[in-house]
Amino acid sequence: MPGYPVLPEGLAYGGDYNPEQWPEEVWREDVRLMREAGVNLVTVGVFNWGLIEPREGEYDFSRLDRILDLLHSAGVYADLATPTSSPPTWFRRRYPGSRLVDREGHVLGGGSRHSFCPSSPDYAAASERIVAALAARYAGHPALAMWHVHNEYGWANAHCYCPASAEAFRAWLRDRYGDVGALNAAWGTTFWGLTYGSFEEVEPPVTAPVGLLTGLQLDFMRFSVDAHIACFRRERETIRRFSDLPVTTNFMIPNCKPMDYWRWAAEVDVVANDHYLDSARADPHIELAMAADLTRSVAGGRPWMLMEHSTGAVNWQPRNLAKRPGEMRRNTLAHVARGSDSAMFFQWRASRYGAEKFHSAMVPHAGTDSRIWRDVVALGADLGRLAGVRGARVTAEVAVVWDWESYWALEFEWRPSADLRFRERIEAYYEALWREHVTVDFVHPSADLSPYRLVVAPSSYLIGEAPAKNLHRYVEAGGHLLVSYFSGIVDENDTIHPGPYPGALREVLGVAVEEFHPLRGHETVALRPPKSSGPESSKHGATGRIWSERVRLAGARAVHEFADGPDAGHPAVTRHDLGAGSAWYVSTALDAESGLRALVAGVLDHAGVSRPRGLPDTLELVRRGDHLFLINHADAPVTVDGVTGTGVLDGAAYGGSATVPAGGVVVVRT
Ligand code: GAL
Repeated sequence: MPGYPVLPEGLAYGGDYNPEQWPEEVWREDVRLMREAGVNLVTVGVFNWGLIEPREGEYDFSRLDRILDLLHSAGVYADLATPTSSPPTWFRRRYPGSRLVDREGHVLGGGSRHSFCPSSPDYAAASERIVAALAARYAGHPALAMWHVHNEYGWANAHCYCPASAEAFRAWLRDRYGDVGALNAAWGTTFWGLTYGSFEEVEPPVTAPVGLLTGLQLDFMRFSVDAHIACFRRERETIRRFSDLPVTTNFMIPNCKPMDYWRWAAEVDVVANDHYLDSARADPHIELAMAADLTRSVAGGRPWMLMEHSTGAVNWQPRNLAKRPGEMRRNTLAHVARGSDSAMFFQWRASRYGAEKFHSAMVPHAGTDSRIWRDVVALGADLGRLAGVRGARVTAEVAVVWDWESYWALEFEWRPSADLRFRERIEAYYEALWREHVTVDFVHPSADLSPYRLVVAPSSYLIGEAPAKNLHRYVEAGGHLLVSYFSGIVDENDTIHPGPYPGALREVLGVAVEEFHPLRGHETVALRPPKSSGPESSKHGATGRIWSERVRLAGARAVHEFADGPDAGHPAVTRHDLGAGSAWYVSTALDAESGLRALVAGVLDHAGVSRPRGLPDTLELVRRGDHLFLINHADAPVTVDGVTGTGVLDGAAYGGSATVPAGGVVVVRT
C-alpha cells in the first residue's frame, strides 16, 4: 500500500483546518496551540476551490502557500484536500448542465456544497483541471503527508436524475447487459408488461405514480456508486501523475447508505472514516463501536484513519447534545481500540460563519479557557502514550454479515412490513454481542468465513446463489451460523428465490417458511420451550416484536416455539446440525433484554467463542495487538480480573486486576 503509514511515527492527531476563515494573526496562534495539544496532522483546503480558482483558469495559491509553509515550520503535517466537493459559484453559472437534479425533478440550488452532478462532463473537466494544478504545485511540499480527495462522496448528491445522468446510466446498463433482452430478464419486466425495447427507453427511477421496478432501482443504486468512484479515480490518477503519497477520501461508514463501501475500499490507499454520535440514542457509543468495526472490516483488517469526529455537539441533529465530561475521550479511544491509527476532528477552530457555526471544534468559540480545550490537550497526551499501538491488528472470532445491496433492496417500497429495516436487526444483534464483550468483524456474504467460529446474518434479505453456497459450505466445514427472519429471500436482482422461503438459505437452515405473519406496531408474541425441549431452550420469557411466520421443520429442530400470536405452537427459533457445524434461525425480533442476549450467549457458547464472564455490560473491552482497552461507560468503577501488564495511559503496574474509574479508560499493555 503506497506510503502507509502516513506519518513517520505515532498516531495522527488533528482535524479539518480552515484558516481561510480567519485573519492571519489567528493562524500563528493556531499553530502555537496545535503544538500545545500535540497535533501533528491537519486537513487543509477541503472547500477551497472558489478561493484558489477565483475565476475559471485563474489560480491564486498565495494563501495556501503561506498556510502550508506555516504548518511545516511548526512541524505539523498536511493532509491536503482536493476542493472538488464544493465547486465555485462561477462554475454553476457557467455550466448549468452540471446542476444536481433530484428524484422529483427539482434542480437543486447553489449557495451550498455538493451541488453538482457526478456524471457531468463539465464537472469532470473542471475538477480534473483544479486537481492537476493543485498536485503540480504542492506534490513536493515538505508539509504534505497525504492527499484527501473530495469530501464524503455521495453524502448530499448520491443520486442525480438530470439528462447527463440518464445518459450515463444507459451507457452503464449497455455495458452491464450487452443487450436489452438480458436487462429485461434480470429485471423481470414481464411484470406489468414493462419490457424495454431498447436501452434508450430506460429512464432513471424518478418518482413514479406507484411502485417502480426494483431491478431498475437496484441497478441505479449500483450505477450511482460507480459514478462517484469514477470521480474519485479521475482525481486519484491526476494526483498520481505528480505524487506518490497516499491518497484517500473520507467515508461515512455506516451512515451514508447509498455508498457501497465494500466496493470503495479497493480504491483508496488507506481507509478513512468520519463518524458522529447520534445523540438521540440511549447508548450512542454502541453504534460508534459498530461503525468502527465495520470500518476496520472494510479496510480488510488493516489500520484505518478516523478522519472526522467531534469534540462536542454537532449542528445538524434535531437536538445537538454536548458531550459529557469524559465522553470525547471514551469515543476517541474506542475508535483507536477498534483499529484507527488516527484521531481527527471536524474541526480545528469553530467557525463564525455559515451553516456550521454551532458545530463544536478543538478550539471552541469560548477559546482555550474551556473544558473542551483542556480535554483536547489531555487527549493529545493520551494519544502520544498510545504510539505503540500503531499498526496493531484486532482479531475477531465472530463476524456479522453486512451487504449494502441488501440494505438498499430491503428498504425499497412495498415490503411485507414497514418495520423491516436493515439496520434495525443488525444493530440489535450487534448490541447483544457488544454487551457480551465480543468483538466482531463485518463481512460480505461471499467473503472467506473460515477465520470465524460464528457468523451472524441478521439482515440478509438479498443474497445471491454463490454467497448462499458460501454460507452453506462454511457450516458444513464446522462453522456456526445464526440467521434472523426475512433473510435469503431474493437474489441480486431482487427476484424471489424459487420455492418456499427462505429460498437461498432453506437448505442450510433446514426450515421452510409457508407464510409471513407480520405483527402490528405494538403487538408482541411470547416464546416458550417446545414440548420436546433440549437443554438450550431452558431460557423462558422471550418476547418477539415485528414478525412472526409459519416455520416448517425440514431437517432443523425447534429450540423455541411461539406460545401465542398467529403461529402459536409452531417453531420460533430452530437449530440445524449440518456437517460439522450448526445453523440457527430466529423468526421474530427479539431484543437484548427480551431474549436476544440469552439466545446469543447460548449460540456463542455452542460455537466455543471465548469471552470474559461476569463483567457489567456497560464495560467495553477490546484487544488490539498487545493493548487491552477497557472503556467504562457507567457511572461506577469496574474491577476487571485477569489483567496483568503496564498501564499505557496512567503508567500503573497491573498485577492481576485493573480498576477502571467511572466513565474512565484504562489501556494495559499485556
Ligand atoms: C461532515 C463533513 C464536514 C462537516 C461535518 C459536520 O459530514 O465532512 O465537512 O460538515 O460533517 O459534522
